[in-house]
Amino acid sequence: MKIYDIIDKKRRGYELSRDEIFFAINGFCSGDVADYQMSALAMAICINSMSEDETFFLTDAMLHSGDSINLSMLGELSVDKHSTGGVGDKTTLAVAPIVSSLGCKIAKMSGRGLGHTGGTIDKLEAISGFRTSLTNDEFFKQVNDIGVCVIGQSSDLVPADKKLYALRDVTATVESIPLIASSIMSKKLSSGAKNIVLDVKVGSGAFMKTESDARALADAMVKIGKRFKRNVRAIISNMDTPLGNAIGNSLEVWEAIELLKGNTHTELYEVCLALSSNMVSCALGIDINEAEKRCNNSISNGSALEKMKEWISYQGGDVSVIDESDTLLNAKYKKEIFAKSDGYVSKISALNVGRASMLLGAGRTKKDDIIDTYAGILLNCSVGDKIKSGEKIATLYSSSSELFDDCEKILLDAISICDTPPQKSKVIIDII
Ligand code: URA
Repeated sequence: MKIYDIIDKKRRGYELSRDEIFFAINGFCSGDVADYQMSALAMAICINSMSEDETFFLTDAMLHSGDSINLSMLGELSVDKHSTGGVGDKTTLAVAPIVSSLGCKIAKMSGRGLGHTGGTIDKLEAISGFRTSLTNDEFFKQVNDIGVCVIGQSSDLVPADKKLYALRDVTATVESIPLIASSIMSKKLSSGAKNIVLDVKVGSGAFMKTESDARALADAMVKIGKRFKRNVRAIISNMDTPLGNAIGNSLEVWEAIELLKGNTHTELYEVCLALSSNMVSCALGIDINEAEKRCNNSISNGSALEKMKEWISYQGGDVSVIDESDTLLNAKYKKEIFAKSDGYVSKISALNVGRASMLLGAGRTKKDDIIDTYAGILLNCSVGDKIKSGEKIATLYSSSSELFDDCEKILLDAISICDTPPQKSKVIIDII
């Protein structure tokens, strides 16, 4: 077999066999297939796509490039979630304690933010002392003892994806449904959970810009999961607007805590409830309405908040952030932003709010950039709100006040105000 022939076959639009796909991925990992050859193959896949079988073989080949975690001791109770990335998406911080307070087991690996999108590990590290890197023994002990543990991604799992993603990032080959589906699912499968709930985002702030692409991606991932005998559900949710009011690491931890205290009933609550009830329904094998009732109860009776305390404390974090959550709003500089006209908020661009927050220091432009934990944006308005000129619509947070003028401009452009009440789009578009 020759990599040249495999690239040529895919370029001409033919279906690759299992052996050809394993040959390409194994060769890429060992160094026998050069980066330029793998890039050419990725581009041929981007242009000609892949069949369901090819996508499954690609996932399998990547999964076999490294170790996998064995969670069989947790039986049917292990459950994981994955979001395809967005702005203000702090759902893991709220969902993990809700679901584990109901007896499900979360042994989860999460990523860091890149570009305008945030990452759970950066958010957790906003809690003073919180350890996101644990030994295997510590990881398993914590899951056994308290039912929840979230750590950074191990480089031993799916090294093929790490290498391939780095190439795709610089060769304009990220946006391909089979490549994204196999990348996400190989990581989720290697993490070992029996039940997986995916949050596929669609809109200006997401990878998938159209609903039909989001549906195709969700469908591809659910099919891969089924072939690996996992119980997979996918939620399709809107990411035209940031999720919730807080964007930035410590600010998002604050908003997740507020949600668990019962102080947030926005679209963020709706998405967290949809994710947690589907996770509980899968892991406990119960009806979705019963699962939703239990999730709501876990918030209203305080057990999810207690579980969050236990989780933070077990991972070495400072639990005082729960009772004194306003300490998470302690950036060195703050600037309030006021509306320039009367009207209705018709749009808040997730992409541009994400970019403004990144510029304030909450995100990275390069992989090794250091994050400003307290930087970000707290929105005081939502789509549909009627506002008056001069009313406060947001606060900027940062360690560098000289960033405020540029970010204010981006933010004011990101928030559109019109004369008539806008039609509000649904946050949960579908569940597959
Ligand atoms: N997230 C991933 O993990 N992989 C992709 O290819 C795209 C988004």
